[in-house]
Amino acid sequence: MNAVEIEEAISNLAEQDFDSENFPYAFLEAFGNKATTIKRLRSGSSNGSDIDGGVLQRNNLHISVCPEGSVSQTLGQLKASPATSKAKAKFILATDGKAFEAEDLISGETVACDYKDFPNHFGFFLPLAGITTVKQIRESSFDIRATSRLNKLYVELLRNNPDWGTSERRHDMNHFMARLIFCFFAEDTDIFIGDNSFTSTIDQMSERDSSNTHEIISEVFSSMNTKPTDRKSAGIRSWADGFPYVNGGLFSGSTEVPRFTKIARSYLLHVGTLDWKQINPDIFGSMIQAVADDEERGALGMHYTSVPNILKVLNPLFLDDLREQLEQAGDNPRKLLNLRKRISNIRVFDPACGSGNFLVIAYKQMREIEAEINNRRDERDRPTEIPLTNFRGIELRDFPAEVARLALIIAEYQCDLLYRGQKLALAEFLPLDSENWITCANALQLDWLSICPSTGTGVKLLGDDLFSTPLDQAEIDFENEGGETYICGNPPYLGSTWQSKEQKSDLEAIFKHRTKTWKSLDYVTGWFMKAADYGKHTEATSAFVSTNSICQGQQVPILWPLIFSTGYEITFAHTSFKWSNLASYNAGVTVVIVGISNKGGKVRRLYSNSDQGEAIEIKVDNINAYLVAGENIIVTKSLKPMTSVSEMTFGSKPVDGGNLLLKKSEIDQLKLSTSDISRFIRPIVGSEEFISGKLRYCIWIKDEDAEVAQNHPVLGPRLDGVRIMRSNSTKAATRTGAEWPHRFDERRQVGNEKTIVVPAVSSENREFLPCGLLPVGNIITNRNFGIFDGPLWNLALLVSRIHWVWIDAICGKLEMRFNYSNTLGWNTFPIPKLTEKNKEDLTRCAEDILLVREGHFPATIADLYDPDNMPDDLRHAHERNDEVLERIYIGRRFKNDTERLEKLFDLYTKMTTKSNKKVS
Ligand SMILES: C[S@@+](CC[C@H](N)C(=O)[O-])C[C@H]1O[C@@H](n2cnc3c(N)ncnc32)[C@H](O)[C@@H]1O
Repeated sequence: MNAVEIEEAISNLAEQDFDSENFPYAFLEAFGNKATTIKRLRSGSSNGSDIDGGVLQRNNLHISVCPEGSVSQTLGQLKASPATSKAKAKFILATDGKAFEAEDLISGETVACDYKDFPNHFGFFLPLAGITTVKQIRESSFDIRATSRLNKLYVELLRNNPDWGTSERRHDMNHFMARLIFCFFAEDTDIFIGDNSFTSTIDQMSERDSSNTHEIISEVFSSMNTKPTDRKSAGIRSWADGFPYVNGGLFSGSTEVPRFTKIARSYLLHVGTLDWKQINPDIFGSMIQAVADDEERGALGMHYTSVPNILKVLNPLFLDDLREQLEQAGDNPRKLLNLRKRISNIRVFDPACGSGNFLVIAYKQMREIEAEINNRRDERDRPTEIPLTNFRGIELRDFPAEVARLALIIAEYQCDLLYRGQKLALAEFLPLDSENWITCANALQLDWLSICPSTGTGVKLLGDDLFSTPLDQAEIDFENEGGETYICGNPPYLGSTWQSKEQKSDLEAIFKHRTKTWKSLDYVTGWFMKAADYGKHTEATSAFVSTNSICQGQQVPILWPLIFSTGYEITFAHTSFKWSNLASYNAGVTVVIVGISNKGGKVRRLYSNSDQGEAIEIKVDNINAYLVAGENIIVTKSLKPMTSVSEMTFGSKPVDGGNLLLKKSEIDQLKLSTSDISRFIRPIVGSEEFISGKLRYCIWIKDEDAEVAQNHPVLGPRLDGVRIMRSNSTKAATRTGAEWPHRFDERRQVGNEKTIVVPAVSSENREFLPCGLLPVGNIITNRNFGIFDGPLWNLALLVSRIHWVWIDAICGKLEMRFNYSNTLGWNTFPIPKLTEKNKEDLTRCAEDILLVREGHFPATIADLYDPDNMPDDLRHAHERNDEVLERIYIGRRFKNDTERLEKLFDLYTKMTTKSNKKVS
């Protein structure tokens, strides 16, 4: 169940008559527990409660319904109950149907409210449904509730007005929803006179059978689109005359309203009963986006970009600097004035703005700084000098673009209320301004200069309607003499395999004249390139959240030299971290933040998280394309190891049409003698066999045995099969291989070596590369790399954290999997000079790891390195290995991966001083 579905279920529960016996089960059901789970609890078989009438669900909730007036006392009993702690309950909850109390036993937070109000706190209980919440979400129950109800209304209206769902009318529908949201907000914040005036007008004036609801709403909208002086002549009905003139584009144009069913009417009235004062425009917008998106509706209320994550972009981009200036200005009125002037000239531009959360947060933060300036200058009542028109966006989808405009308007009102008081906020709020600042279009096809003209050019295109921009025409009414422009956002990331035809052609148009290899680039790179191109015309600093793949592996040499060639540099960056939102299935997107600028300046800031999760900021001279403090180096393939490590090659490739490969059962069918088996049959190991412990075999014939094999009654026909298959190949090299059918086409081992094995592709979720040692006689396929008869200390290097980090940065990933490369990742891997003692120590570490693995026989590599179930002794063995190796590098453990990479790049630079390829 998603958050919105849960909200709906518990709101329904709270509206029903209280049923003391059934409540605990209904509550658990509302949080997504299956019928069978509830049945077991009801029967008592899984109910661990030691309290009369109590229901205890292991690892989750201890709940009790109690006699009236004893809620606090019962909560105390639940807390003290030994069963609560034994069953590791996360929550306790007591209610008598009138009062409601609960406690989160992990955080110690509590809820106490009237029973009927408990749905207002449902965010508090989301962990019961396995949804891990961030603090803001717990406090944003309102936004989820509003999303849930608007969604019901939206779906019901479309059901009854299918034409409003067609591409021609979708915009009207979205625009209608934006108008409604505005009205709900306005009626709860005194922007409209009287309590709930919009909802109650609809309630009172429209027929209960809903037949004229659309006409009543339309009349109210018309009133808001008509200046008071014109209302009489326009024939506005007296009951609609009390609504203020709003326009600003929001109510201009057609005031047609979709037809309501009885259900839709009651949904609308229901939405109106919420307290819209609580709306949080930066959260609400992200949540509600899915309403208008059929594919995303399943994740309704789950998409949510946390404010701290957005600030990771905005703070280093420009807010930290503003705050520093504020600090330096102290109480100096002139300096404060200058800063205010500077702030009022800052443009923030998000070219993939969704519902505008980056813009809203930037706006709110800037208003906070401005308010502090006004405070220090004793000018608290002063109207803001920060125009909303300075917050600009491009968004592909119509509904989020509508919501973004609205979110900014709401943010402006809320800031006025906060910093200047209600009277002044109200006095200046209406009518809304009509400039248009969010453009609904494809950002990669649009000239960004048309949205944000370069400073001082005085581009001036007049717009008359804030809410209905023609798709291809950005309407600007703005000059930014001497101002600064900051470009930011969280543009979509899509690897090359997932891009649509249109997205590919977006990238083609941007990159095809610059590089032949643009097809490997992620969609997000289009935004980086356009930001850098934008800077050819004007100074601008940009920072985007991005998939980390653009700073790893194959994309690095394609993208970054192009960006650097425009004069842009990486001025700050946050190394890889998980960008999570409410959607539990989407908890694992690994992202980076990259800030680029053409403004010069020496200090660069590199942010990362330590292995213990603390935030680290370091100031450095340069940040390279791998987001490492160091020179702008691109690591290139090396055919031979650049250090003292052993040579690594691919395994052998059969090219046999299946004739040389065998399952265990096939060996039995061949009825070979024991001596033939030991002479001709070998275990063969691909990456899947190695990781998941599967058994496969192959026919492996030494050259001197070729003739015997050819004349063998069972093997001979198989070799004929190989010969035929190869000679029919379209590839000349394969046809040559028909001359030696007894051999694998590409044979890279003799067959009697000990092999250190490295799967070519493996899951990125493991904390260590799944490498190992195969006994003499095993053959590895070309799905693996191998070091044949190499010293075991090589294995210690391969399974170390520091090697993982190098491979992650240099080889990158194929979709979500590691893509190992001997020439790019192993031959280039920088290591310090190893002494004999170092090698002995590392050998022992590798032996220990292998021994611990053996102790867990028959667990496979996949079992042992499952990140959630890795055995402690194995983890310790790896810890020891890392400890020994990292001491060889720097005499202590590294603080984090950023420091590991920095050291590796430092060594790499030294290794390649003469031959490295520098990026301009
Ligand atoms: C990852 S979302 C980020 C939105 C918002 N900042 C947030 O955190 O919810 C990316 C946004 O880019 C929009 N988008 C996708 N392709 C686009 C394009 N070519 N031009 C403009 N916007 C685009 C999507 O519709 C989506 O709203």
